[in-house]
Amino acid sequence: LVCKKENEQIISKERVANHGEVYTAEREVNAMLDLVKFQTQRIESTFLEPACGTGNFLVEILRRKLDIVVSKYKRKQYEFEFYSIIAVSSLYGIDILSDNVEKCRERLFDIFNSTYQTYFNKKAKESCKESVRYILSKNIILGDALTLKRVDGSASPIIFCEWTPIGRYYIQRKDYEFAELLKDKEFENIIEESDHDQMMIDFGQSDKQLTIDYTQREESIFKHINTYPLQHFLELKDV
Ligand SMILES: C[S@@+](CC[C@H](N)C(=O)[O-])C[C@H]1O[C@@H](n2cnc3c(N)ncnc32)[C@H](O)[C@@H]1O
Repeated sequence: LVCKKENEQIISKERVANHGEVYTAEREVNAMLDLVKFQTQRIESTFLEPACGTGNFLVEILRRKLDIVVSKYKRKQYEFEFYSIIAVSSLYGIDILSDNVEKCRERLFDIFNSTYQTYFNKKAKESCKESVRYILSKNIILGDALTLKRVDGSASPIIFCEWTPIGRYYIQRKDYEFAELLKDKEFENIIEESDHDQMMIDFGQSDKQLTIDYTQREESIFKHINTYPLQHFLELKDV
């Protein structure tokens, strides 16, 4: 599904007209990601693609992160699983079309799963796959990145889950409203100083493209709305 040719970049004229849906070709995806190469190769660096389509950028970022996980942990299954989950948990996407959201989750899962199977085959655990699926169900959101609301009928605010590794093998989830993150005064400074974690915006119909640094933030500048009990990384679920 990564478009290698120009004619694979659109699904229909209607979707281009209604949603500006023109996918970025693989060559451009890689060229753009190479501009922040160091960050794409950090297992925990955070990326948000707020008009993600089927996830052309997120897929390539996950591939790069998993290359690092493989190079470090291909002989240590537990570490491989833990760091793969950290890699997945730091990728976020929003799209306004539900088939794109489904496809994006599926592609990200497949990349994780094929890497996992390649190295651990019969020893691969269903619980690890479930944790990855669970995180993707939270991080890849059906929503409108302009109104900052979900488009699943609830019209509730878009909420991002932050997954922080605590010690080894535990994860702390905290929830943040997207609107709140954008409102923050210090957010403006963050945009200007950007060269770390990335948010890429390409709505297709406008020239707007932004790159935003999340790394240098102080914990306190973002108000979270919920904190959850620690969970083992192989047992992530709603609590
Ligand atoms: C130009 S495509 C880019 C897709 C992907 N980022 C890529 O580069 O291949 C724009 C995408 O934005 C989505 N989109 C359009 N308006 C949106 C909105 N208000 N909120 C979220 N997604 C939107 C479309 O469904 C489409 O998938």
